[in-house]
Amino acid sequence: VEAIKPFFTVVDFESGSFEPADRSERRYLSDLKGFFYFSEELEKAMERDNSLVYEVHRREVPLQAGHLQHCVTLIHPGDVGGEFYMTKGHYHRVTRTAELYLCLCGEGILNMEEPGGAATHIRMRRGVWSYIAPGWAHRTINISRDEKLIFISVWPGDSGYDYRTIAQKGFSNVFVRAENKEFSILRRS
Ligand code: F6R
Ligand code: ZN
Repeated sequence: VEAIKPFFTVVDFESGSFEPADRSERRYLSDLKGFFYFSEELEKAMERDNSLVYEVHRREVPLQAGHLQHCVTLIHPGDVGGEFYMTKGHYHRVTRTAELYLCLCGEGILNMEEPGGAATHIRMRRGVWSYIAPGWAHRTINISRDEKLIFISVWPGDSGYDYRTIAQKGFSNVFVRAENKEFSILRRS
């Protein structure tokens, strides 16, 4: 395993600031083509204003088993035709790798699914520490109207990403705004 020196990051649980970040990614509506369920609504929303949906700020460590990748994700509040702002979601390319998500702030859903079709979700709020078992696809969803959803992730260095399966098939559970309850789940046919 590649030798590096110990280090630390300072995370602010309310603002989600993560210092120093080595790399930051910002995903706008236009980056989420093929991921939101209501594609016509997405086109319209992009024309109105190509809003920022989520940000990932990370430390870089070697992409190797033995090292631990880690980052913070901030998902802004909003929806596309009722479907909440969310991450793209992915499987790990190396399917034997698990992941931990600790929610720092906000209200959300961790949506998970297996290639066999089994699906489940965990309600994220401050302090909820979720274990994403090996082989499960994962996507996070901000169900608040006005607050950011902020969480930190830790996963094996060699996990990699498979976004393509999600872009092609989507998740079978689609989380949408509902009256008088936090959300409803639409089943993708
Ligand atoms: C890493 C992981 C998270 C996500 C991040 C953004 O394995 O699961 O750090 O990468 O929350 O989501 P995606 O990668 O789906 O755009
Ligand atoms: Zn992951």
